[in-house]
Amino acid sequence: MIDHKIRIGVLISGGGSNLQALMDSCDAGKLNGRIVFAGSDNPGAAGLARAREKGIPVFSVNYSDIIKGVRQGSITPPDDFDFNDSYSKQGLFGKDADPEKVRIFLESRAACESELLRHIFSYEFDVLALAGFMRTLSPYFIDRVNTDPFLPRIMNIHPALLPSFPGVDGYGDTFRYGCRVAGCTVHFVDYGEDSGPIIGQKSFQILPEDTLESVKSKGLEYEWQLYPECVQLFAEGRLTVVKEKYELKNGKAHERKIVRISNN
Ligand code: GAR
Repeated sequence: MIDHKIRIGVLISGGGSNLQALMDSCDAGKLNGRIVFAGSDNPGAAGLARAREKGIPVFSVNYSDIIKGVRQGSITPPDDFDFNDSYSKQGLFGKDADPEKVRIFLESRAACESELLRHIFSYEFDVLALAGFMRTLSPYFIDRVNTDPFLPRIMNIHPALLPSFPGVDGYGDTFRYGCRVAGCTVHFVDYGEDSGPIIGQKSFQILPEDTLESVKSKGLEYEWQLYPECVQLFAEGRLTVVKEKYELKNGKAHERKIVRISNN
């Protein structure tokens, strides 16, 4: 049970409005925590300025340059990278995937992530909040941050009601599909794409007069409420990931891995 002000590390790629919401919630005392760093995969991420203004340490890892370096052979993956381990855990590749592309992907991710780990572990943190961080994290990174299998500590906010519409454009995909309801999800990060156990969700109606832009801006307002609420549940020590077994009517066993939220 964590009973102190939790230390929150945040990773962003863009404008950082969710980072802002987390900082504001800490300031307002709604979130019993403090932001200990804001990092990015993109040195030009506008949101880093929001943290700098507050005196929060910032850093960036230039993913694009590192990926280029791995492709060209001038950068090699870190010594402790185990290709087979990452490949067997990361369920993102189909059986027909081009082995060379898979190799480059996993090696370049590990090269970027070893830099990311070097930065984040220079701070002490309890939870790592991905707030518009647009890079897939590989098992190399996840296993070095999540050391307690019952309390993962990487959270992500996604702009759709998962498991629908994972990927890079949740509101766009929701809107283009013609859904009547949109929403956002906060979940723990696992090896899949936006597939980890769900902590919280908020939904809202898409009205006939809505446009993609209005859906995005409504959605963001819900995100700014949802993310601090979910991190606060973590701060209160109320989250655990549990496996539950069910027997279906046809007698088949079914298992689900879910987040249990305990009462205080
Ligand atoms: C948010 O809508 C967030 O849910 C989304 O990026 C936006 C970042 O906005 N994240 C993803 O799509 C992750 N797959 P922000 O930089 O203003 O917080």
